[in-house]
Amino acid sequence: MKRIVLAGGSGFIGRALAKALLVRGYQVVVLTRTPRTDSGFQEVEWDGAHVGEWIQYLNGAEAVVNLAGRNVNCPHTRENISEIMESRLSSVRAITQSLRHIKVPPRVWVQAGAVGYYGDTKERLCDESSPAGTDALAGVCKLWEEAFNTADAPRTRRVLLRIGFVLGRDGGALPVLSKLTKQYLGGSVGGGKQYISWIHIDDLTQMFIESIERDDLSGTYNAVGLNPEMNRYFMRELRHVLHRPWIPPAPAFAVRLAARWMKTEPSLALASQCCAPIRFIEAGFEYKYSKLRPALENLCS
Ligand SMILES: NC(=O)c1ccc[n+]([C@@H]2O[C@H](COP(=O)([O-])OP(=O)(O)OC[C@H]3O[C@@H](n4cnc5c(N)ncnc54)[C@H](OP(=O)(O)O)[C@@H]3O)[C@@H](O)[C@H]2O)c1
Repeated sequence: MKRIVLAGGSGFIGRALAKALLVRGYQVVVLTRTPRTDSGFQEVEWDGAHVGEWIQYLNGAEAVVNLAGRNVNCPHTRENISEIMESRLSSVRAITQSLRHIKVPPRVWVQAGAVGYYGDTKERLCDESSPAGTDALAGVCKLWEEAFNTADAPRTRRVLLRIGFVLGRDGGALPVLSKLTKQYLGGSVGGGKQYISWIHIDDLTQMFIESIERDDLSGTYNAVGLNPEMNRYFMRELRHVLHRPWIPPAPAFAVRLAARWMKTEPSLALASQCCAPIRFIEAGFEYKYSKLRPALENLCS
């Protein structure tokens, strides 16, 4: 049975990917700082920073997928940004170092990245060749990618997925937005003109699987849907699906206040990311959800 190692696979994306990989007949090993026995997957301890006994699972593995990193859903203070950065760089370094200690390296390494790489793009459409942004998160993404791209892994094919705004039932922002909308707080945010490069979790999972299985894929890909939407359209569609009426927009200052109260970062809702998955389109990737409404209906029903 081919083995896939999911570093940081205990989270939102990792759980969905692990389930899909099991269905396809892979053995799944999740590297986590707090292994559990009731997750339905084999969980192995690592600290996300140092080589340890876990490297035996990488030896001869079909793939390693690295999803580890402190969640960005927190105020972006200097201290938090430093933790967000360090958790990402140290997990990439630990995997790189592990490759020196094993005889048969994984055939492929798929690394999570984020469209935060591009910064606040306003209405400018970004493809994989667009430059990095200049804000703090873009700085994190840039160094995260550099660590991955310069890793000494000559026998391992490498794919980096710049992940967009992932829509799923069990994690990410959608459950929070749905709850607010059901409570009649689902108005558009800020000016409402900022783009959301959304992707349904099933399509994202399939992108990871194709990155593992297709030898013709390598390098950097925007892992986003075909149709980024403005926030005001996104919220209108969500209200429609949840049978809620028009609700007044929340101005930017109110979003900043609410973000402080919710202990999160307002720029996560106010910044615009308008990204195109050019390289997946060129690779012939077939989306299950290219339109927003069916995606929301599937997840909110
Ligand atoms: N969800 C999205 O919309 C989205 C969008 C763009 C990019 N991404 C990227 O995709 C990756 C996976 O996202 P996700 O939504 O699945 O995130 P998640 O639910 O927060 O899971 C990330 C996992 O990383 C591990 N982790 C957290 N802090 C860590 C640290 N300090 N050191 C080592 N490991 C740590 C945790 O595993 P343990 O606690 O079990 O060790 C956690 O389960 C992340 O790198 C994220 O930045 C996600």
